[in-house]
Amino acid sequence: MKEALQNKRDFYGRDFIITPDVLIPRPETEMMIDTVLNIMGKPFLPGVKPSEPKLPEDITILDVGTGSGCIAITLDLLLSQAKIVATDVSDKALKIAQKNASELGAEVEFLQSDLLKNVKVKPDLIVANLPYVDENWDWIDKEALSKEPALALYAKDGGLELIFKLIDQIAEREVHHLVLETDPCQHERIISYAKKKGLALRETRGFILYLSE
Ligand SMILES: C[S@@+](CC[C@H](N)C(=O)[O-])C[C@H]1O[C@@H](n2cnc3c(N)ncnc32)[C@H](O)[C@@H]1O
Repeated sequence: MKEALQNKRDFYGRDFIITPDVLIPRPETEMMIDTVLNIMGKPFLPGVKPSEPKLPEDITILDVGTGSGCIAITLDLLLSQAKIVATDVSDKALKIAQKNASELGAEVEFLQSDLLKNVKVKPDLIVANLPYVDENWDWIDKEALSKEPALALYAKDGGLELIFKLIDQIAEREVHHLVLETDPCQHERIISYAKKKGLALRETRGFILYLSE
């Protein structure tokens, strides 16, 4: 019965299994991959100037809130020397992410964790597309979103509760680089919060923010 609810969605040129337990990957999230490639000195388009300074190839990247695993798996397949760890608070989502990793031949270490709580490694770079929709926003189509888990979509405090918590934890653990997806209407608040925690804005690309020390 459950199998019948499985679907596949393209993300960055690869098909990912999607079920009602995970967010459907969005096109705007693909810019997260473009941003990381740029930070790693591997520009995604000829002529795009790589970010400076570029990060070394053998870094550890942590994807927080991995869902279907689309970000972590894509990064693993594109960055052969990087170690990729991915977490989610949802065990059901992690099962789908693991299935996607084995189907696509990616080697990602998956871990159940509420934000960084169970994370033991010290990542060089954190990427996160956490829930950032405030359910009080009057422009969202709640009916359309009802097919996806509320846990993957909604957050309190104008949608910023989890992102602010993650920034606090990053500051405590001295992680130097953070790439986040959030709605552009939230960017100003995030940039100002991150600045107080020692992270400065380096780049904005659509929904994506790159912040670093
Ligand atoms: C917006 S979805 C993103 C999924 C995937 N990364 C993508 O870009 O398509 C957010 C994910 O964060 C997870 N999540 C929600 N709260 C979390 C928490 N406190 N700690 C870790 N993951 C969480 C959800 O289960 C969901 O899979």
